[in-house]
Amino acid sequence: MNADGTDTGRRRFLTATASVIGGIGAACVAFPFLASWAPSIKTRALGAPVEIDISKIEPGQKITVAWRGQPVFIVYRTPEELAGLNTLTSQLRDPLSKESEQPNYAGNVHRSIKPDFLVLVGICTHLGCVPLYKPVIGSVEAGWEGGFFCPCHGSKYDMAGRVYKGVPAPLNLPVPPYKFVSDTLLVIGDDSPAGVA
Ligand code: FES
Repeated sequence: MNADGTDTGRRRFLTATASVIGGIGAACVAFPFLASWAPSIKTRALGAPVEIDISKIEPGQKITVAWRGQPVFIVYRTPEELAGLNTLTSQLRDPLSKESEQPNYAGNVHRSIKPDFLVLVGICTHLGCVPLYKPVIGSVEAGWEGGFFCPCHGSKYDMAGRVYKGVPAPLNLPVPPYKFVSDTLLVIGDDSPAGVA
C-alpha cells in the first residue's frame, strides 16, 4: 500500500494470476500477502472457500485476497467512514443496493455483516478493472469522501462500494458470500450456518 492509502492491488492481482499459470514457485513470490491470508494454489484453483485472519488489519486499512480467481477487498472502516455513508445518498445511483449483487445480510447501508468490516469483489462493474482504494478525503477530487476509484474510465464508489451517479459503472461493487467463524476469522465463499456443509 502506498503512503496515501492507495494500493497496487490491480498490478499484484494480475501478476499473481499470471504466476498461477506459470508455476507454484513464481506465485509465492508474486503474491505478497501474509502467509495466513494466502490460500494454496490448489484451493484457489478449485474455488473453495478461503479463510482470512483479520486480526492484523488496522482501522482504515484494506487487504486484497484471491477467491475464485477474483480480487476480494476486505476493509476495516473507521467510525468516521461509517458515519459518512449516511451523507451521500443523493449522489449515489443505487444507495439502498436494490439492483446490485449481495447476500441479504449485506443489503443494508454499510453493505456488510459487521459495520466496520467491508467485504467486496474488487472488480469494477463497468468493464472489469480493479478499482483503487482511495480512503483519504479529497484524494480523488474536491469533495471526495473516500472510497474506490477506477482509473480505467473514472468510475467512483463510496466506502460501501456503492457507485456514484454520472460514471460509466452501472452497479455497486458485488459483495461475495462470507461469514465470521470467530472475531478474527472470516470465510469468503461460504455463508452456511455452523455445522451445515
Ligand atoms: S472498467 Fe472501471 S470505469 Fe471502466
